[in-house]
Amino acid sequence: MVMEPITLQDIEHWLRETDEKALEMLWARADEVRQAAVGHEVHLRGLIEISNYCVRRCAYCGLAAGNRTIERYRMTREEILECALKAVRLGYGTVVMQGGEDYGIEADWLADIIVEIKKQTPLAVTLSLGERPDEELKLWKRAGADRYLLRFETSDPHLYELIHPSLPGKKSDRFEILRRLQQLGYEAGSGVMIGIPGQTYATLARDIHIFSSMDLDMIGVGPFIPSPNTPLGRGEIQFDIDPSEQVPNTEMMTYKTVALTRLVRPDANIPSTTALATINKESGREFGLMRGANVVMPNLTPVQYREKYEIYPGKACINETAEQCSGCLRGRIASIGRTVGTGQGGRVKRPT
Ligand code: 5AD
Ligand code: FES
Repeated sequence: MVMEPITLQDIEHWLRETDEKALEMLWARADEVRQAAVGHEVHLRGLIEISNYCVRRCAYCGLAAGNRTIERYRMTREEILECALKAVRLGYGTVVMQGGEDYGIEADWLADIIVEIKKQTPLAVTLSLGERPDEELKLWKRAGADRYLLRFETSDPHLYELIHPSLPGKKSDRFEILRRLQQLGYEAGSGVMIGIPGQTYATLARDIHIFSSMDLDMIGVGPFIPSPNTPLGRGEIQFDIDPSEQVPNTEMMTYKTVALTRLVRPDANIPSTTALATINKESGREFGLMRGANVVMPNLTPVQYREKYEIYPGKACINETAEQCSGCLRGRIASIGRTVGTGQGGRVKRPT
């Protein structure tokens, strides 16, 4: 299939498209590009939510520091290693250790756990632990970490500063950290939320356009879901945009973003996210996979911690065990005629 490169204007046009027939074409194109670039396999990444402590005060996130309504936990080394072994038993090729930006997760302590996972298992190790200092990112890479996820959330600097306050004395620059991660040899993943209050169509179009220029290996996008104990959830922040320019945080807008992301980054690994599964528990995951995605992230977190990792309410898979999520996702993947990937499922770069 010969395709013109997709322009910023095209992207914005598609985001505003409401005609069902036209959208069918977008889904079909995204699905074709996905098949041609990364094939029919769906890769499983076992998610371990290792800590819900966080020093940040993001206006969207239920784990933000200062939220006294949640009970905090940090998993032990033994619990994490047990989850990694379970990942192997369940046939996953990757574990993702995710947490708030928690300096109680000491760099050496985590490095040692990474070394142990790499010694005992064939797993790829992905980290998603916020804006940690350079030295720590280096240490973890040397310990054997393969990938790092850090969403830039929005490319609008003003909106970013409003919803993601910097720590005192250090301006938060996730683009800079992403470049560093790439230099250090990590596979780097990023992404945005869809329908953040104050996010315009032009902004989301630019976010997607930026994915194409960053050579990202992984791109995760999901709908913004208001979390009650947060400034955004309580509607406390005022935005000065024309209401008709506000991107809705809907399922449809999420599919459009997933599909366009596939068109701009054909060979990236793109998950059908938990946030999407949360707003359509019935079939959100499947539609994501049919409209551009090629990865899912089954939850491996021990059940007693899951409800405490409430970034937003109603999160999918809160009560299921690791075994149930594995069975559930395998069934969903088979139901749409796809197969589960084997091996680590890293990005296989295509010549450009
Ligand atoms: N709704 C949807 N996604 C959210 N995230 C954080 N808070 C919310 C929310 N209320 C996403 C952010 C973050 C990722 C781990 O979860 O994009 O990077
Ligand atoms: Fe957890 Fe379906 S993936 S229940």
